[in-house]
Amino acid sequence: MVNNTNTRCDLMLFGALGDLAQRKLFPAFYQLDRAGLLAEGSRILAIARTEADTKGVREQLFDKLKHHVKAEEFEPEVAERFLQRVEYQLLDFNDPAGYEALKDWRDAPNNELIVYMATPPSMYGVIARNLKAADCCNEKTRVVVEKPIGHDLESSRVINDELGAVYNENQLFRIDHYLGKETVQNLIALRFANNLFASQWDQNHISHVEITVAESVGIEGRWGYFDQAGQIRDMVQNHLLQLLCLIAMDPPADLSADSIRDEKVKVLKALKQVTPDMMDRYVVRGQYTAGTSDGKPVPGYLEEEGANKGSETETFVALKAEIDNWRWSGVPFYIRTGKRLPEKLSQIIIHFKPAPHYIFDPDQKHLANNKLIIRLQPDEGMSLKILTKDQGLDKGMRLRQGPLELTFSETFETERIPDAYERLLWEVMKGNQYLFVRRDEVEYAWRWVDQVIRNWKDSGEPPKRYAAGTWGPVASIAMITRDGRSWYEDA
Ligand code: BG6
Repeated sequence: MVNNTNTRCDLMLFGALGDLAQRKLFPAFYQLDRAGLLAEGSRILAIARTEADTKGVREQLFDKLKHHVKAEEFEPEVAERFLQRVEYQLLDFNDPAGYEALKDWRDAPNNELIVYMATPPSMYGVIARNLKAADCCNEKTRVVVEKPIGHDLESSRVINDELGAVYNENQLFRIDHYLGKETVQNLIALRFANNLFASQWDQNHISHVEITVAESVGIEGRWGYFDQAGQIRDMVQNHLLQLLCLIAMDPPADLSADSIRDEKVKVLKALKQVTPDMMDRYVVRGQYTAGTSDGKPVPGYLEEEGANKGSETETFVALKAEIDNWRWSGVPFYIRTGKRLPEKLSQIIIHFKPAPHYIFDPDQKHLANNKLIIRLQPDEGMSLKILTKDQGLDKGMRLRQGPLELTFSETFETERIPDAYERLLWEVMKGNQYLFVRRDEVEYAWRWVDQVIRNWKDSGEPPKRYAAGTWGPVASIAMITRDGRSWYEDA
């Protein structure tokens, strides 16, 4: 068994029987164990409020692993071995006395301690205080928390203050799982390892950038949470703005967490405020109605289970973001994200400006700009669209746009691309924070998103409807068309 950390970890997992833990976290730990990356003697304390015992929880987790891990990657004997690391602890998170049991479990104090709070954020402060009061953590403990950190700037500050009262910033690992995706990390390699792009990466050479994160799924039984959040809080405040930062940031001095995060914060600070008079041209919000998904009829958002029929929560957002700095002045970043769109697709498209003097067929002028397409999912890879001459005697100097293609799974014959959570948990174990979000990033992101939400509220305008299975309200197409552009569609 390879052990690249040499570090034994004790993981206290709060919310261990919840959906996130079962769907993502245990499968990720299983994969790390399978890859030989969990040191001998590393242990997991599964903590939840449900009456259960270790034997029952292990059985339940075995079934869940079998369900959530791909069949070809599920090895029963590895799962059995992995589950021997897991013990169960019933706990009322609010009861300080209960934390004594956690202290007793820590009978191997040389193991590094990781606390993972897969709970509602309202519990973070309570858990942190109770752990400290029971002497269950110290200044070396690493603490992992999930989004959402609050629902606006003010509430995020409260949560960050509560965590900050117990832990130093260098102990806090705020997860944005998009940062764990292989291709998202590749943005850093693409931009800062290839000098080819460095000289092209600014307003002199790029006309605009598109970021699309589309999902075909609807709300999937999460109506209660989602209706309070909406797509802008659920996806834009974190995932989309993180992608935007990685595309727009200046080169960091090195790969250290703070160098990278300092540069991202500069981008967030430079985001242009969207004032009420700009809303019509800069922001579109939508809500899906009944339609089709994968060829099957699906209900509208207001007909989903548990729905409040009068809800005006958005399930789609398209935004034009502008960054007020030297590098990006005049380059719009069009971003869109939504539920119940035609397919699951995340991609970034960098549209380069055309050559300064065009000498080819005027009918083909619309082709004349290079595009770099970065596919985050599915088919992780990149494609650079370049212009060449069309072949054949009869074609003269007609142009054709063709791809320089890099599909990771084919080019590198990658065996498997690890899930984002595997990478993130592995980085936590190594104590590396560069893929985690710092407090000021969270707060600047909220500052920008809050003003858009405030403008929506003040305008009183309901979201525009779109049928499930379409690319959102037509207003989102109009938004970009008004600027003489269109959302990219691969022909
Ligand atoms: C989560 C959101 O953060 O990201 C979900 O809360 C969304 O609403 C999910 O479905 C999308 O993640 P991925 O990795 O499937 O693109």
